[in-house]
Amino acid sequence: MSNYHLPVLAEEILKFLNPSQMNWVVDGTLGDGGHAELILKNTPPHCRLLGIDRDPSAIKRATERLSKYKERILLVHGNYKDIKEILMKEQIEKIDGFLLDLGVSSPQLDTPERGFSLKKDGPLDMRMNPGDPRTAADLLVESSDKELYSIIKGYGEERFSKRIVRAIRKAQANSPVRTTFQLARIVRDAAPQTHHFRIDPSTRTFQALRIAVNNELEPLKQALKDFLFALNKTGRALVISFHSLEDRIVKQVFVEKAKGCICPPKIPICVCGEKSSLKILTRKPIRPSLLETQMNPRASSAKLRVAAKIYA
Ligand SMILES: C[S@@+](CC[C@H](N)C(=O)[O-])C[C@H]1O[C@@H](n2cnc3c(N)ncnc32)[C@H](O)[C@@H]1O
Repeated sequence: MSNYHLPVLAEEILKFLNPSQMNWVVDGTLGDGGHAELILKNTPPHCRLLGIDRDPSAIKRATERLSKYKERILLVHGNYKDIKEILMKEQIEKIDGFLLDLGVSSPQLDTPERGFSLKKDGPLDMRMNPGDPRTAADLLVESSDKELYSIIKGYGEERFSKRIVRAIRKAQANSPVRTTFQLARIVRDAAPQTHHFRIDPSTRTFQALRIAVNNELEPLKQALKDFLFALNKTGRALVISFHSLEDRIVKQVFVEKAKGCICPPKIPICVCGEKSSLKILTRKPIRPSLLETQMNPRASSAKLRVAAKIYA
């Protein structure tokens, strides 16, 4: 098996996870098992890893890659947003650390049939879990102009979303938009190249559709809270995000849990009873080094935030 996904910020992940203290660690976005392998290599044999991925092919690849550690791993095909139910089903009461490395993996991006990449022609699919009902092509057909506009504007932070929606509708009037190259061409013709010459103008639209197809943002806040709840005292929470919308959610949840009390500032005495349960260990997100981004350009927008549970 070649072309594995390169684990991002590997050294930093090991440093913050505190591996010698681990009993159960959860990799909620197992992917190609790169981080999982790194963690298993650097933890004592009693440390076990629960790996979750919504993509069945990721589970298959990681099972092969991690076969050496088969006594120590439990790999589950599922969505990390269901972490509460997954832990309950596997009879795991508390965990000592978790990692979420959000977004898509290299095998997903590099396989044209998965339809994630604007650089490879394939069906306009973009489902991380091919068992999910709606592809990106379906979404283009089923959503109203207003919905499509708010997806491209909201998840892609695209200035030219109105023009892009108009161009998609015009193209659909002639023939259905079913392939990645078709969509990329429509968007390139509709949205002017900005001063970022190296970035294809269709990048933001592809990102927006992927987020919508996989419902990547809405469940993240509650999922993070559920992961944090499952952490033992001193346990570590590590989240790598790749765009500002995800990073904002991670930051908000960490700040909220570190602050504790949620009473309005006007109230002189706390009545909510919420206690601070988290210590933020990264005041600013950690970014990959220049060397890492040179070796792995896909790491360049990664941001790692870490927190430690202080009250369980
Ligand atoms: C960036 S890759 C992870 C790569 C992995 N850390 C490695 O080193 O190989 C992200 C993975 O998370 C999975 N994923 C994304 N959202 C998910 C979710 N809500 N639940 C479970 N898996 C998810 C994707 O299918 C993808 O395989």
